[in-house]
Amino acid sequence: MDATDVETVAVLGAGNMGHGIAEVAALAGYRVRLRDINEEFVRDGYDQIEWSLGKLAEKDQITEADADAALERVTPLVDVEAAVGGADLVVEAVPEKMDIKKDVYAEVEEHAPADAVFASNTSSLSITELSEVTDRPERFCGMHFFNPPVRMQLVEVISGAHTADGTLELVEDVAERMGKTPVRVRKDSPGFIVNRVLVPLMNEAAWIVHGGDATVAEVDSTTKFDVGLPMGSFELADQVGIDVGYHVLEYMHEVLGAAYEPCPLLAEKVENDELGKKTGEGFYDYA
Ligand code: CAA
Repeated sequence: MDATDVETVAVLGAGNMGHGIAEVAALAGYRVRLRDINEEFVRDGYDQIEWSLGKLAEKDQITEADADAALERVTPLVDVEAAVGGADLVVEAVPEKMDIKKDVYAEVEEHAPADAVFASNTSSLSITELSEVTDRPERFCGMHFFNPPVRMQLVEVISGAHTADGTLELVEDVAERMGKTPVRVRKDSPGFIVNRVLVPLMNEAAWIVHGGDATVAEVDSTTKFDVGLPMGSFELADQVGIDVGYHVLEYMHEVLGAAYEPCPLLAEKVENDELGKKTGEGFYDYA
């Protein structure tokens, strides 16, 4: 199978990344099944796609007809078998926890076609380890989008130890068909490339505030002004989800060592469910 054979894309997880990836896939003309564990999560994800397509149409980035057609291509589902049965490509975007992802792959493996390609949107976890839960480690790779997927151009395509070249080429082609720029990551190491750089930046910003050396606003205005980032470190943490950054750090800390110890300020936000834009409150208030 190559990219021209891909017609149906199943996206597992309808959260921030999942619904964004489903939207990008639908805009590219794929039939999309958007799956999450309950009706409410799936409905929320679907509503977000509708909102985002509406915004794009409002700004004349797509036509109303394109927005309607893209939305029609998305089927929201809870049943795993219905979601992945007949899928050519399964993109998994469930929470950033090794155990959760492994459970999902074990279940998906039972129902997905034998020749379907599995791509994980993990931000940091080992592609090799995840692929080994399945019967198709050679048709398994990372396909890491950035938040918000509809606006961000880059996709990291990560090779695991067993990934076949044909799988990487197929996923890169699909990313290009989605209008993205794939960058191949040859080494399956925690955080890959972008998060290895970006997440410690968020963590260091948190340590500065935790130590009382500067405020959130001071750190953000300085990094935006001087480092030239489009968002301050805390704005970015709120955008991607403080829990996502925190779980990436926990994993990097576990595998790479002490330099990646997550700042307690991040842990506190996660405990209080103040996760950023998606919960209405993080380092900033979005209510
Ligand atoms: N769909 C449609 N519209 C959207 C949208 C979406 N998903 N998200 C935001 N918008 C809209 C907003 O509602 C707003 O609309 P209004 O103007 O009507 O209020 C508008 O877009 C804002 O867009 P602007 O062009 O004015 O804003 P901007 O130029 O600042 O761009 C941005 C926004 C693209 C997010 C930019 O700030 C940016 O690039 N930020 C950095 C994001 C980033 O680095 N992401 C990667 C994070 S790391 C990651 O994701 C990996 C991981 O694994 C943790």
